[in-house]
Amino acid sequence: MDIKSEIEKRKTFAIISHPDAGKTTLTEKLLLFGGAIREAGTVKGKKTGKFATSDWMKVEQERGISVTSSVMQFDFDGYKINILDTPGHEDFSEDTYRTLMAVDSAVMVIDAAKGIEPQTLKLFKVCKMRGIPIFTFINKLDRVGKEPFELLEEIESTLEIETYPMTWPIGMGPSFFGIINRRNKTINPYKEDAELQLNEDLELEERHPIEQDASYQESLEEFMLVEEAGDEFDREKISRGDLTPVFFGSALSTFGIEEFLDTYVDFAPSPSGRETEEGEIVEPTDEDFSGFIFKIQANMDPKHRDRLAFLRIVSGKFSRGMDGVLARTGKKSKISRATMFMADDKETVDEAYAGDIIGLYDTGNYQIGDTIFNGKKRDFVDLPQFTPELFMKVSAKNVMKQKHFYKGIEQLVQEGAIQYYKSMHTNQPILGAVGQLQFEVFEHRMKNEYNTDVVMEPIGKKIARWVENEADIKDSMNSPRANLVYDRFDNQVFLFENEFAMRWFGEKYPEIKLYSLL
Ligand code: G4P
Repeated sequence: MDIKSEIEKRKTFAIISHPDAGKTTLTEKLLLFGGAIREAGTVKGKKTGKFATSDWMKVEQERGISVTSSVMQFDFDGYKINILDTPGHEDFSEDTYRTLMAVDSAVMVIDAAKGIEPQTLKLFKVCKMRGIPIFTFINKLDRVGKEPFELLEEIESTLEIETYPMTWPIGMGPSFFGIINRRNKTINPYKEDAELQLNEDLELEERHPIEQDASYQESLEEFMLVEEAGDEFDREKISRGDLTPVFFGSALSTFGIEEFLDTYVDFAPSPSGRETEEGEIVEPTDEDFSGFIFKIQANMDPKHRDRLAFLRIVSGKFSRGMDGVLARTGKKSKISRATMFMADDKETVDEAYAGDIIGLYDTGNYQIGDTIFNGKKRDFVDLPQFTPELFMKVSAKNVMKQKHFYKGIEQLVQEGAIQYYKSMHTNQPILGAVGQLQFEVFEHRMKNEYNTDVVMEPIGKKIARWVENEADIKDSMNSPRANLVYDRFDNQVFLFENEFAMRWFGEKYPEIKLYSLL
């Protein structure tokens, strides 16, 4: 098959959600539909002792697998779909954000009872900034939750995105009857096998007891309202991320998943191009292979020092054994060990195409943001830095180990594991992170890879703001509640105690122009 049609078959996305909304369950059900796994009901090990295939970290711990597999590929309807894991919970880190740089669309899972939750909001903002299509799956309709209109309203007002329900629920919780599929005007009943067909006037084509049900009548009226007064369907807006197709369902009962997948493959974009430092856009169908590294998974087991670098293929085709040039150093090497992840297993990959993610074995050569190419020289724009929220003072336990300490910090910072800051007068090293896990990984790796024990002292949650007009900063502006520090490029950054402190500062020093990174 030619490269172009291989690439057009690819759909690469990540699921964004708040912990417990149902990301793991949905992932598993998607894999099930794709035939990638055989057994359902393995979700959540608490009771059964089993885990969802996508609960990677836990599977890894359970089975003692040393490398986290964070990408899975499955087939559906002739498409090759890549799902990228966005670690949440205690595993939330900058990697979670960076994963969103490597996808072409995102699926937002919302718990119908909870609506938009903080972590969803954060991840959503990154997707919005990239302008990628966002599909919404409102989950747990088998339980009583918020009313559908209330949820749509919440999505529209909190996220500033238009909504277009592709399905509409009839009832919820104990009275959940099913969903209306807006595309083909059928009702998929939750508990019955057969599908019910609606005619053009939204009447059932065949008599059914549900017609007598008050909640059915109510839902149908709501649906009519959506048809008449809801946002218009607009494919362009979907592809820009300005309008989100919304689906209702229950991941746990594998309900509403097929409706979702059918529409998803129709509307989700195939792999998109990427900009180089020179401002050129490299198209996926460009013959020469190129890609960028968005995540490096270090091995936490000291016996195995190898790492896995995750590369998103931007253009062309990867073949095992091909040469790859690392743009940063110009060094050429054979890529002979690359893996790809199927649901149950990792396997050695012989061929992969633009849109796919491959894992490259790394002995310390790669950094996050690195470009690897074959043929025409490419150097993709850097991945953005994200505004950290948590901070720690850090120092070497043993002062004799300063050299190791700084070398370790430098490498881990370059690799993107953690962010480095220092205080203004004392140059005290400060680490910044978006998730607590990053500090733990840092401490562990300093000990295991750089043989340095560190002492960490939490400074807590801060609001970090960079300054546009640094020349106007005066020493007197520095205070415990608006602490002035330097980032690793020697830019000045205020770490504000809280929103109140930041507002107070803004009022007192209106001449200082503050901004945040992503
Ligand atoms: P996450 O990856 O987003 O954190 O969520 P996960 O899939 O692990 O789901 C969180 C909990 O919600 C799980 O329950 C899961 O079974 C449940 N869940 C997921 N989808 C649905 C759904 O459609 N309906 C209902 N009713 N529940 C759903 P758990 O943590 O095992 O707790 P428990 O409810 O089994 O006690």
